[in-house]
Amino acid sequence: MAELREVQITEEKPLLPGQTPEVAKEAELAARILLDQGQTHSVETPYGSVTFTVYGTPKPKRPAILTYHDVGLNCKSCFQPLFQFGDMQEIIQNFVRVHVDAPGMEEGAPVFPLGYQYPSLDQLADMIPCILQYLNFSTIIGIGVGAGAYVLSRYALTHPDTVEGLVLINIDPNAKGWMDWAAHKLTGLTSSIPEMILGHLFSQEELSGNSELIQKYRNIITHAPNLDNIELYWNSYNNRRDLNFGRGSDITLKCPVMLVVGDQAPHEDAVVECNSKLDPTQTSFLKMADSGGQPQLTQPGKLTEAFKYFLQGMGYMASSCMTRLSRSRTASLTSAASIDGNRSRSRTLSQSSESGTLASGPPGHTMEVSC
Ligand code: BEZ
Repeated sequence: MAELREVQITEEKPLLPGQTPEVAKEAELAARILLDQGQTHSVETPYGSVTFTVYGTPKPKRPAILTYHDVGLNCKSCFQPLFQFGDMQEIIQNFVRVHVDAPGMEEGAPVFPLGYQYPSLDQLADMIPCILQYLNFSTIIGIGVGAGAYVLSRYALTHPDTVEGLVLINIDPNAKGWMDWAAHKLTGLTSSIPEMILGHLFSQEELSGNSELIQKYRNIITHAPNLDNIELYWNSYNNRRDLNFGRGSDITLKCPVMLVVGDQAPHEDAVVECNSKLDPTQTSFLKMADSGGQPQLTQPGKLTEAFKYFLQGMGYMASSCMTRLSRSRTASLTSAASIDGNRSRSRTLSQSSESGTLASGPPGHTMEVSC
């Protein structure tokens, strides 16, 4: 109640001398978002309505972190373990977060009527400007998984000035070829939609291991009340077109990119190929050991650390903001990287929980960062 009264006072307050309507509007928006911590909003777009949840308050001169989830998941089941991870709090307190649910994937979403034309992945990307306009946010750092990584990449290609950085987990930038389609059709003869989606999300080893995590996600997807909607997002993913990245081509991501894939993930080859097509001076490639298909669920600690380095490279995480342990790791990473001095090749980060090392730098150049 007290918070509600505060908003009414703001609204009734006349403009201060020298205060422009724009400044007043910004203050009102900030107040709205302050009250809306973890609140879900929907906006209408040319392709239907889209729902998203906002956490935190906008920080001046800082982009928003915007997440986009994969097929079979929603913003909560895809990102909650990462964003609630202890060390992640140090990072996210510096950013407002916008977690987008693909249409029909939000909790409690009604099933779309029969014959509903679900947006293509390109159209899902075209919905993002409506979200940013509603929130009055000008730039983002995107974190996307699978289909969500594709959507954010498409958005970055069409709106390069609004994307400061991208973390792309399990991205497959290519349309399905005829071999993939044949395999997909064959699998479809013997597998249900939930099993096909689980095969997209997790490695065969993980699925046959049937850990608690797999049981949890199998249960979520198999019993999803919106399974028909999930199938529509799945179909849009399978009908995606090539992103057509190419080195030296105009069609490329212009911002810093961190590509992430688990070392046994179903999408390892696609991510490796994607790495070969992006600007090596802007791209880091992180192949994560012991993480299976969903590193953000199984290795939130490693991903948080890599994300910290990524943000630091963009000038957003001063070492004074980092823990003593992280600071010493970063110092070794920075000095080792500068010894190499070769900025024309992409950086490969590979993490191993067994050796407890984080290696960074061009292939063949291993830098040990004490973990
Ligand atoms: C966040 O702080 O961004 C967040 C918190 C809980 C769940 C998902 C995201």
